[in-house]
Amino acid sequence: MTEKSPTYPDGRYAQIIGWGMSVPEKVLTNDELAKVVDTTDEWIVTRTGIKERRVVAGERESTATMSLRAAREALLIADLAPAQLDLIIVATATPEYIFPSTASVVQDALGASAAGAFDLSAGCSGFIYALSMAASVVRSGAADHVLVIGAETLSRITDWTDRNTCVLFGDGAGAVVVSVHGERCGVLATELGSDGSGAQLLIMPAGGSRAPASHETVSSGGHFIKMNGREVFRFATTVMPKATEAVLRKAGWQSADVSLVIPHQANTRIIESAAKRLGLPPERFFVNVDRYGNTSAASIPIALCEAIGAGQIKPGDKLVLVGFGAGLTWAAAALEWGVPIPTRPQPWLRRLLARIRFGMAGIRSQSLRVARRVYNWILGPVGKDDWRGKLRKRADAIYQRLKRQRNKSQ
Ligand code: ACO
Repeated sequence: MTEKSPTYPDGRYAQIIGWGMSVPEKVLTNDELAKVVDTTDEWIVTRTGIKERRVVAGERESTATMSLRAAREALLIADLAPAQLDLIIVATATPEYIFPSTASVVQDALGASAAGAFDLSAGCSGFIYALSMAASVVRSGAADHVLVIGAETLSRITDWTDRNTCVLFGDGAGAVVVSVHGERCGVLATELGSDGSGAQLLIMPAGGSRAPASHETVSSGGHFIKMNGREVFRFATTVMPKATEAVLRKAGWQSADVSLVIPHQANTRIIESAAKRLGLPPERFFVNVDRYGNTSAASIPIALCEAIGAGQIKPGDKLVLVGFGAGLTWAAAALEWGVPIPTRPQPWLRRLLARIRFGMAGIRSQSLRVARRVYNWILGPVGKDDWRGKLRKRADAIYQRLKRQRNKSQ
């Protein structure tokens, strides 16, 4: 049975209005990998479709720096100021730190002063999970503009001596701005799933509360990706068509309605198998795994940006995004494209204004840090009963009162 296509109350739809991506400049080819592990270009290409991947080159590149670049590009296309964002979600398995969240680091660097921020962990399905959360808060009226980022620095948790995994992964980030829209378009349905009984099949075993970092976890390679490739492959080939069919049912679409499927870029054999099971021609699936490898939560937004850049998406197109990953998890989204694709670079004035805004964000961040340091230096440590302690108590009370007043007036 085909379900009725969903309509949302008050005509609040959640549409992607901006997009951007960032990958490191350094390219790592299969031939280069074959110099460090026992593999060949031929094996990697025939078993995975991957020819090269991007990897971060120095300490200064990380999940947050790539996220920031992708986010700025997405905001520029959306023509939105960072201060207009209500929420930032970063889907990642390789966050900047365990805490604080990468989303908070990005929020500060962007100068998104009114935004809440959190990270989301759902392996390679993370971006669609985050998109689904963003669409829900937009449709509910809790937010008007949400920045969704999928970003990974997998090269930092890859065991470069393990040929079973090191040939597969790459680094990068992709971002979209999801905004409220009055007409029926955007994210119309999502399907999210998890089977934690497969948790051990794809895991970074150490560094969490179960096995905190120790000499032993480091020397046994517990901080690297461990994967049972064959089992994950079997899971992926089953779940990709199932999740796609489920989301099509929810959106009330037939598979023939779909203009383009943007699948998680893990392996061309997995994508071809999904196309076959769904009875769709392989050309209907966007593929760029050959150039980036598996960038986990970043793979779908990067592929979306490249599909847009290649002219494969136009208003009215019906898209399916579908992924699988660690958890085990799976996710799919049915998306009707609703905004025109700019054919020329953004006007210079808009780019200049955006650049000024981004520069101001850096100044804002530094001033907040300096103000915090000066405040603590003048008023001394918390809890002291001398004149500085009393002054701090009064200053803190005034600050709290002002904050409450500001919240009330908003
Ligand atoms: N070069 C040469 N030989 C290799 C390599 C390599 N890089 N890697 C493995 N082999 C060998 C194996 O050792 C094995 O040898 P053996 O038969 O002597 O034991 C042989 O090749 C075949 O190994 P298989 O695992 O059967 O190879 P398969 O065809 O299944 O391909 C692969 C392996 C590419 C990993 C595949 O299983 C796969 O793509 N799995 C899914 C992985 C995936 O998508 N993971 C990401 C999930 S998303 C996320 O959340 C990050």
